[in-house]
Amino acid sequence: MEKHKIVAMPGDGIGRNVLEEAIRILDAAGFEAEYIEADIGWEFWRKEGNPLPDRTIKLLEEYKIGLFGAITSKPKEEAASELDPALQNRGLVYSSPIVGLRQHFNLDVCIRPCRSYPGNPLNFIRRGAGGAIEEPLVDVVIFRQNTEGLYGGVEWTDPPDKVYEALLSHPKFIRNFSHIPKAEISVSTRIFSHGATSRILRAAFEYAKKYKYRSVTVCEKPNVIRETSGLMFRLAKEIQKNEYPEIELWNTNIDAQMMWLTKNPENYGVIVAGNMFGDIVSDGFAGLIGGLGFACSANIGEEVAVFEPTHGSAPKYASYKTSIVNPIAMVESACMMLDHISEFETSSRIRQAIGRVVKEGKVLTYDMLKLPGREDVLKQGAVSTRRMADAIIESL
Ligand code: NAI
Ligand code: MG
Repeated sequence: MEKHKIVAMPGDGIGRNVLEEAIRILDAAGFEAEYIEADIGWEFWRKEGNPLPDRTIKLLEEYKIGLFGAITSKPKEEAASELDPALQNRGLVYSSPIVGLRQHFNLDVCIRPCRSYPGNPLNFIRRGAGGAIEEPLVDVVIFRQNTEGLYGGVEWTDPPDKVYEALLSHPKFIRNFSHIPKAEISVSTRIFSHGATSRILRAAFEYAKKYKYRSVTVCEKPNVIRETSGLMFRLAKEIQKNEYPEIELWNTNIDAQMMWLTKNPENYGVIVAGNMFGDIVSDGFAGLIGGLGFACSANIGEEVAVFEPTHGSAPKYASYKTSIVNPIAMVESACMMLDHISEFETSSRIRQAIGRVVKEGKVLTYDMLKLPGREDVLKQGAVSTRRMADAIIESL
């Protein structure tokens, strides 16, 4: 069988630790692949003035599949001050390379599964009738539009005259904002396109169909944000009626959803939302299944797909002599990559191995013990990143 070729982008901080462990686990599971290491992150910003070098883009163009650890981002001025002296005062502006990847390759479908492992001490519990403690099993997959909406970057403070004139053509702007000096107005747009909205909806329905989820919930706010949330809900109704009549379409408002997810999280299956509400609702559900140590994600475009844990580079932890962070979010992201290339048997074995380790409850990283993340957690019974990966490999 031909070896798969995977572009491995460790990035910064703990991204490097967790990606290394995930690759060890993929190897141990018998996944035949060659990993081509690609440069991304802070080091390349400082040395080259570009955290996403062209050679990394080229590798992804060629091999199509990326595994990504995490990067460090810093505010504009701080980033500029850390540039190599030879690159300073050249007007270089830092921008996040993961956002850059999503835009360059139009990775518009973001998938964030939130599934609880039985026995995880971080699982959400609630009080049931008569004071009984209930631990609902969460099995929710969030589909987040990854390129448009409020994170699309089309925004101004003191908008240019043409933009201001356009705003003045709207009766509600005249009524509510025209008395405010232009210089005191900031505008962030929320643009949804028909094409990208249809694509995220179809991806959600298709997933629900393939993995036998009963419902797809559109989580927006169409009663207030009539044009954009309204577009998503209207298209969802059409797509459900014409293409997926066997799947139920539910509609929740983002605010109410954030309340309900602690009331009855087991009721939800596939959830689909725009960029910002998808970001919010996926963090909400991730909190029910163990938080950042367990939250995985995929960014999928028409050609290229990049798989990454939701967490960042946690710089403080990267300086510890022995890495203490939980590698499971990264390993789960690698499993999503395996599913993407139809290596279902291998991903299923890895998930089962994680499941056994969690259920046994003997090998726990500091987050699972609810300890503050200090270097001495290893003395308090927590295991290292490496030891957790070893336990998963032994379980395999
Ligand atoms: P972070 O996710 O790096 O860390 C926040 C906290 O979550 C950590 O202090 C730690 O307590 C916990 N945590 C994170 N990953 C964990 C793991 N695998 N196991 C156990 N605990 C874990 O977010 P923060 O501190 O806001 O950002 C740090 C840097 O990461 C920043 O420069 C930020 O811009 C960047 N970032 C990068 C992302 C990416 O590469 N996709 C996403 C989010 C932040
Ligand atoms: Mg987020």
